[in-house]
Amino acid sequence: MWIPRPPGQRQTEKGWCLYPMHAKQTILQLLKDTPEYISGEDISNRLGITRAAVWKHIRALREEGYEVDSVPNKGYRLKSLPDLVTAEEILDGLATKRLGRSIYFFDEIDSTNEEAKRRGVQGAPDGSLFIAESQTMGKGRLGRAWTSPKGEGLWFSILSRSGLSPLQISNMTLITGLSVCRAIRCQTGCEAMIKWPNDIVIGSRKVCGILTELAAEVGRIDYIVTGIGINVNIPSFPKELSAKATSLQIETGNPLRRARLLQAILLELEGALDTFEKAPGQFPEEYRKLCVSLHKRVRFFRSGEARDGEAVDISPEGELIVREDSGCLTPVYSGEVTVQGIYGASL
Ligand code: BTN
Repeated sequence: MWIPRPPGQRQTEKGWCLYPMHAKQTILQLLKDTPEYISGEDISNRLGITRAAVWKHIRALREEGYEVDSVPNKGYRLKSLPDLVTAEEILDGLATKRLGRSIYFFDEIDSTNEEAKRRGVQGAPDGSLFIAESQTMGKGRLGRAWTSPKGEGLWFSILSRSGLSPLQISNMTLITGLSVCRAIRCQTGCEAMIKWPNDIVIGSRKVCGILTELAAEVGRIDYIVTGIGINVNIPSFPKELSAKATSLQIETGNPLRRARLLQAILLELEGALDTFEKAPGQFPEEYRKLCVSLHKRVRFFRSGEARDGEAVDISPEGELIVREDSGCLTPVYSGEVTVQGIYGASL
């Protein structure tokens, strides 16, 4: 049975709650909740606005890409949704309690990590999500640029104010990689793996990168910004990148609804962070199973010198343990590690 949603209210676990919804959002929610046609008069009565105002909001929704059918004497019906990552689309079906409850959406921004840091200084709450359709100065690890084409990926950052010590941060970034990997596997069926520390690869090509930054004082973290870039619906890559980079659309042959994938990632990450914060010493065994770098020939750099060996384990602190060709076991904790058979250092 369809229960009419009171205008201007949202359903929560506890029932309906007052929530300051814009009339356009309320109309969108009404259309989503109503499988059959709903008349303009009905909408105008429920919202207490004129028929002309209803029409204006329907037109605005159409301009955003919502396909709204209108039939004389019957009314309006939502036929299809655009693939948007606006706050409305993310919140519709989001099951988290902590992550993504404050959303900062941008059509275009320099970098969601930079915006999260700017807002972090101003007191943005724990769990805030910063997401953009495109970034003009997306940042990768080791000072590289990250290309973020409009509407084709998930480019977002999460601000967390968990009470972790700086020493626990490297583990937290590994846990983020694990959560993204799990969500991609579950939503797409792709056999995503983790290239230590936290790139996500499918086969030998990279589909996602993670950049963690922190604002800290001595021994105390103010907040952590975890930036995640996922190539979701990029149809193809230029020749020079196509051997190293892939997208979920290329792998599955189909475009994916980005908001659904994001919801799955936030839920996975929230669960993993809760577990980790309660027991920070316990490194998830599942990471080892999904880590493509283990038991492979690897190359890392110390003081500018290339060193080769085999990756044999991950330490409880999240370091990659490499048995060097000289026989000694060396913990590698940051920087570039190339893995034989997986894309090289220049991505
Ligand atoms: C890497 O693999 O080098 C890390 C890439 C991280 C890219 C994401 S996209 C969202 C967030 N904002 C940024 O400027 N960078 C991260």
